[in-house]
Amino acid sequence: MSMKAVLFVFAVFFCGHTESYKILIYSPTLGHSHVNFMGKIADTLLDAGHEVLVYIPVLDPDVRSNGTKRAPVLRVDVMDDPTLLKNHPLKLNPFNDNFDILGDDCTNILVEGYAQVCSGQLSNKALLKTLRDHHFDIAITELFGYCAFGLFKLLGIPTNILTSALPMTEVIGDVFGVPQPLSYVPGIFGSLTDEMSYKERAMNVITSGNWRGMQKQLLDRENEILHRYYGSDFPSLEDLAKKSALAFVNADEFFELPRPITHRIIYVGGIGVQNAQKLSNEVTKIVDASDKGVILLSFGSLANSSLLPMKKKLAILRTMANFPKYTFIWKYERPEDDVELFANYSNVYPMKWVPQVDLLNHPKVKVFITHGGMNSLTEAITSGTPTIAIPLFGDQDHNVAVAVKRGVSVFVSKRNIDTESLTAALQEVLENEKFELNAKRLAQMIAKKPIKPKDLIVKWTEFVAEFQDLSNLDIAG
Ligand SMILES: *[C@@H]1O[C@H](CO)[C@@H](O)[C@H](O)[C@H]1NC(C)=O
Ligand SMILES: *[C@@H]1O[C@H](CO)[C@@H](O)[C@H](O)[C@H]1NC(C)=O
Ligand SMILES: *[C@@H]1O[C@H](CO)[C@@H](O)[C@H](O)[C@H]1NC(C)=O
Repeated sequence: MSMKAVLFVFAVFFCGHTESYKILIYSPTLGHSHVNFMGKIADTLLDAGHEVLVYIPVLDPDVRSNGTKRAPVLRVDVMDDPTLLKNHPLKLNPFNDNFDILGDDCTNILVEGYAQVCSGQLSNKALLKTLRDHHFDIAITELFGYCAFGLFKLLGIPTNILTSALPMTEVIGDVFGVPQPLSYVPGIFGSLTDEMSYKERAMNVITSGNWRGMQKQLLDRENEILHRYYGSDFPSLEDLAKKSALAFVNADEFFELPRPITHRIIYVGGIGVQNAQKLSNEVTKIVDASDKGVILLSFGSLANSSLLPMKKKLAILRTMANFPKYTFIWKYERPEDDVELFANYSNVYPMKWVPQVDLLNHPKVKVFITHGGMNSLTEAITSGTPTIAIPLFGDQDHNVAVAVKRGVSVFVSKRNIDTESLTAALQEVLENEKFELNAKRLAQMIAKKPIKPKDLIVKWTEFVAEFQDLSNLDIAG
């Protein structure tokens, strides 16, 4: 190629390229799945040529991950009592049968934690200066608590985008003024679908009311903190939140239930799913040696299988023994403590860490036994693997109810983890081919979507950054 041609190609390349924006990703350590979702968004925007900072105010110090592979990270301790979250009932016993994420013991800790994160940031002049000096064009935050919107205002960031690492939630709908009739729009923390009996509708009103109530309690605390430091003339956090331009939600059009929506809420489900890699030699050996196929079991990053009560561990192992021609890989954090327990079960491989996506995409992996966290469920769906789902807490009941309705999952209650129920569920998924067919078809649809979630994130973020004064339009509601 001549020099002229090279210059021409360069000129076209650079002129065609959009402006590079400075983007703040606000990512408190609420949990691995939340931080990972935000990190994926960060990497996506970084790869598109933007300047990105992943800013992590620490809420739960045990969440060490930063979620991003490539972006710079600013991790800051801001709480008065950094050990607060250690006592969260969920962390003490994630398998507790009677655990209620909307119960007072849980919500009080979260509200207190978020309030401390809020005042710790808003009162820290040096931190605010450091962040302000970046001159961010746009900020992106999950909607959980409202303090971020006050922070963005103080940093002079003209506009922001909301996200949700969970699927659609009531509070996102509320911010965008979308009606959400509780007669057929199930709350994010319930186990209902769009078809509810009269009694279920009443339950939906209660769970949804509890969740909104908790958010309102937090909003009031955060407004009080903001106004204490910056005067009562400062706009209310709720009004600032309503200026959000868009929302990126971890949901998929073909999976999510129908509901009223606005096109400013954009489904980007699957953004967190990595590309499958080849399995390591060690895992390949196990998979190849399997007779009829492999079944993977994992309760996710928060609930360690090692913490299961012995009775339930045995129920799971006896179920596995009922399927001797299958090989079971179980994500089990401390197998060294239970060597004797596993010794009698030759088709079971406990592993401290499992290459989940790589395994799910392997043709020999037939079923995934999961807690139904949105990331795990999405990885199952995009790999076309049917699931047996044992939801433990949070949005998992909801996710699983939708998966069952879509015909890709069989539900087992955590209160009912015994050999009979697990064996019946496994038989159903292995013998009724509808599960595999549905899962494969859903995976193909998602893979062939005309617009990829990553492109949606990049294009919409650039659009919002360009029209910064979007936030001054009265577009709420
Ligand atoms: C973020 O975490 C990844 C994976 O643990 C690590 O490789 C990377 O260095 C971290 N980035 C920063 C800036 O700490
Ligand atoms: C769960 O397992 C991980 C990995 O082994 C460990 O770091 C963590 O402390 C465990 N959590 C609990 C509550 O035992
Ligand atoms: C393993 O098998 C041996 C021999 O059948 C038995 O004595 C032992 O109780 C079994 N252990 C467990 C944990 O099931």
